[in-house]
Amino acid sequence: MKLPYNIFAAYYDTITRSAQDERNKMILSIAKNEGVNSICDFGCGTGLLMKLFKKNNLNTFGCDLSDKMIEIAKINTLIQDDRILSVEDMTTYKPPQLVDIATCNYDSINYLLNEKLWKKYFLNVYSILNDNGQFIFDFVTLYDIRKCWPGYKQYHENEHWALLRIAEYDRSNDIGIEWFNWHIYQDGVWIQDTEKHQHASLEKETVRDLLLSAGFASVDMTDADSGAEIFDNETTRIEVRAYKKG
Ligand SMILES: C[S@@+](CC[C@H](N)C(=O)[O-])C[C@H]1O[C@@H](n2cnc3c(N)ncnc32)[C@H](O)[C@@H]1O
Repeated sequence: MKLPYNIFAAYYDTITRSAQDERNKMILSIAKNEGVNSICDFGCGTGLLMKLFKKNNLNTFGCDLSDKMIEIAKINTLIQDDRILSVEDMTTYKPPQLVDIATCNYDSINYLLNEKLWKKYFLNVYSILNDNGQFIFDFVTLYDIRKCWPGYKQYHENEHWALLRIAEYDRSNDIGIEWFNWHIYQDGVWIQDTEKHQHASLEKETVRDLLLSAGFASVDMTDADSGAEIFDNETTRIEVRAYKKG
């Protein structure tokens, strides 16, 4: 069995590119409208948001726990400086300067598997933001993990590889587990391997309280898919914007 993203890194952009592009453009438009100069992307993955910000002449920083994702991010962004694009945990990474926007996109925060880590992470984000800074992130909900993950399957393939994703809910630990079952054609043979991805979530009220306790002055939350009100038995992903000043 491999660490999460050890295999996925090489195929990540092929599989998720269109969804990433849409969200990244949305974040760029917020940055442009609000006259932002700098951004730090936590759990930056393959660095496509950083690439977009760099292209728009904004100072960009990022970290990811996976060295394989950072390898691809270095190719995508052409950034080689390890302080700017770092293999580091989001709960501890500090960019070399304070930034206007911190982001954490596409479930990256859900890889933090308990409330203590979310709390530590929010304190870290608060500490690296300018006085007018804001934190933009999305997270999958407890409803999604508990009710929608069990039995959920997704399949992707091309002629050189196939990926079957199977999700389950671990009731005793209250976490979602997604098994990535890979078949990859290498040197004339098909190789099989597996990655285990684990997601935890918190009630939206707890997330809000933790952000306010970390020092954020105000927090907006919406359903990430509809952009409208959140319903506890319907919403699978929540979009959050937390502001350092009210
Ligand atoms: C679903 S991917 C999202 C990548 C990217 N943000 C995007 O929008 O495509 C989740 C990323 O979070 C990273 N990650 C998970 N736990 C992390 C941690 N504790 N610190 C930093 N990165 C982490 C993973 O390695 C992975 O690259």
